This record gives sequence, C-alpha cells and structure tokens, in this order.
Amino acid sequence: MNYLVLLATCYLSYFSVSSSSELQKYEAIFNFGDSLSDTGNFLLSGALAFPVIAKLPYGETFFRHATGRCSDGRLVIDFIAEAFGLPHLPPYLAVTKGSQNFQHGANFAVAGATALDPDFFFKQNIGSILWTNDSLSVQLDWFKKLKSSLCKTKQECDSYLKKSLFVVGEIGGNDYNYAFFVGGKINQVKASVPLVVEAITRAASALIEEGAVELLVPGNLPIGCSAVYLTLFQTPNKAYYDPRNGCLKAFNSFSKYHNAQLQRGLDTLRVKYPHARIIYADYYGSAMRFIHAPDHHGFYSGTLTACCGGGGPYNFNNSARCGHTGSKACKDPSAYANWDGIHLTEAAYAHIAKGLIHGPFASPPL
Ligand SMILES: *[C@@H]1O[C@H](CO)[C@@H](O)[C@H](O)[C@H]1NC(C)=O
Ligand SMILES: *[C@@H]1O[C@H](CO)[C@@H](O)[C@H](O)[C@H]1NC(C)=O
Repeated sequence: MNYLVLLATCYLSYFSVSSSSELQKYEAIFNFGDSLSDTGNFLLSGALAFPVIAKLPYGETFFRHATGRCSDGRLVIDFIAEAFGLPHLPPYLAVTKGSQNFQHGANFAVAGATALDPDFFFKQNIGSILWTNDSLSVQLDWFKKLKSSLCKTKQECDSYLKKSLFVVGEIGGNDYNYAFFVGGKINQVKASVPLVVEAITRAASALIEEGAVELLVPGNLPIGCSAVYLTLFQTPNKAYYDPRNGCLKAFNSFSKYHNAQLQRGLDTLRVKYPHARIIYADYYGSAMRFIHAPDHHGFYSGTLTACCGGGGPYNFNNSARCGHTGSKACKDPSAYANWDGIHLTEAAYAHIAKGLIHGPFASPPL
C-alpha cells in the first residue's frame, strides 16, 4: 500500500470517532434517557423548565442552531449512531409532525427525566421540581406504541429488533440530582439507589421481552466533578476534594455506588436472559480519563469549569445559567469538558463515546 495513502487513512480514522466499516451493523438504535441523550423531546414537549435550550449558544458548535440537545453540539448517542453508519436519532415526540421516519430508530430520552416515576417524588413533596413527568416507564410505553408501526408479525418484529441496539440510559442521574438539590444528604439519597437500579433493570427486561437482544446500559458520570455540584456543595474543607482532580470525593463515591449496583443488576439480567447481549457502558471511567489529564485530551481550559455560565469559581451561577441574561459562552467550547454547569460539551461527549466504541469502557465490548 502506498505510504501516503496509509498515512492519510490513519489520519482520518484518528480524527473521526469511528470508521463504521469495522463495527457490527445495526438496523436501528432505540434510546431511552435524560438530558445526556435527549435530541429534542423535551423541547418538543414545551421545555417549560428550561426554555433556553431552544436558542443559541445551545447547538452552536455542530448544528449551528438549537436542536433541543443540552450541549453545544453532538451527544454520546449521536456519536454512537455515526459510528454505526446510522442517522442521528429523531426525537420520538416529532411523531405528531408525521414526517419522521423511525425505521432506523428513535430517541425517547427527555431532559430532566427520572428512572423512577413522578409518584415517588410527589410522595416526598418534591414532585413540583421535576422538569418533566416523562420518566423511563413513559418512554417505554412510547416505544411499545411505536413498535406496532415499525413491524407487524412477531417474526418480523423479532428479526428487526434483534438487529437493533437498545441504549437504556444514562438514566437515574436526575433521581439523585433532584434529591441533592433540595438538600438531601448522601446517606438518605443512597437509600433510593436500589429502587433506581431496579427501575433501570426492569425497563431493560421489558425491552428484552419485547424482542431486544443487544442492550447498552450506561452508568452515571462522576457527579462530584460537575460544576453544579462543585458550586452548590463547595466547602473550605480541602479534605472533601480529591487532590488529583479537584472533584468532590463523596459525590464521586456516590456515583460509583450507583454504578456498582447497576452492574450487579445487569449480571442478574444476564443470567435471566442468556440469549441477550447486555453491555455496561462505563461513562464514569471514560470521563475520568480526561478529568485526570485534561491537557492530554485537549481540555486546555480544564474540565471542572463550565464554558457557558454567569460567573463563580466554576462559572456556574444559578441566577445566570447558560443562555440567561448575565451569562455568556466561552470562545472555544472544545477546550472545556463542561458546557453549562450541568451538561458536557460535544468534545467531552466525543471522548466518552470513543472510550465506549474503541476503548475499554464497554463491557463486553460493543
Ligand atoms: C406532572 O404531573 C403532575 C400531576 O399530574 C402535574 O401536576 C405536574 O404539573 C406535571 N409536571 C410537569 C413538569 O409536567
Ligand atoms: C450571578 O448572577 C447574578 C445575576 O446576573 C449576578 O448579580 C451575580 O453577581 C453573579 N454571581 C457571580 C459570583 O458572578
């Protein structure tokens, strides 16, 4: 092979998250989750709690207009779709517009969504702070409704769904966010972890019963490194911070606790459904790579400070959140891992996706 061609090939595959040819083909991808993977449902449902995602700077980097994604550009699910040569997933709620084609999959994720049903939060008198009632079980019902339009006979459905990838999550992060943001203590919130994990594994089981065979189930991100947590729970006590990265240790331990329980839940599912391929996606580990070595991954402005915000030590200001008066976006979002204090930049999502698709952060490998 010509040396120059070889060089050019290496160069290309280095800069795209993936070259699709090497990966197993899926016919469709169905995604369930929250703002980490919502490609427009929350916006289509009105986005009352977070209307700023309807305008720039949201979407500025890749789409050049706001799409309803809670980032400057593409999300992990977009990079996964690209890696398998599939179109970016259309949001399910565009179904009412009639023009959408869901043959290559659909996205049911809604920003603010919880794994547990709203009832759980209303019973604790914090239901009113939920951004949305479109919890995981609602998203599952949407899938069942859509399924009848995608395939007819059981045989046809089985063969179509067998060739589809089901991404269940990340979901559950908001169940904890809501609790922590109203003052819940770590030990109290820990009590809800088994319930959240059960809601996730129950949804995965339901999908397998519907015909899903390949499932990817992501865990939670290191929330102790998130600008909103670092701001709300900042303390002069240095012992609370991880000296290697400046993250809040107790909240990262919390994420790890959730992730460990989730993996145990997936192990149980694998025993129950030996024909299914249930893949755990280690978002925590994949994100930790760039949190430990920001410069090495191109995050020259660090990974803890938000690109878009209204001031404060982590550029997260609840009175001037990204998109609101008093906030502004940085010049180069790709130098930041954190986009708006809560969500990550396209650059960070690209790294996480790369870690799943090529790296060691999907087990078993995708
Ligand atoms: C969720 O449902 C409750 C009860 O029906 C309702 O009061 C509340 O406004 C809904 N929340 C949202 C964000 O739609
Ligand atoms: C947060 O935003 C408010 C409203 O714009 C502003 O008055 C305040 O100074 C900001 N706080 C910081 C720490 O920049």
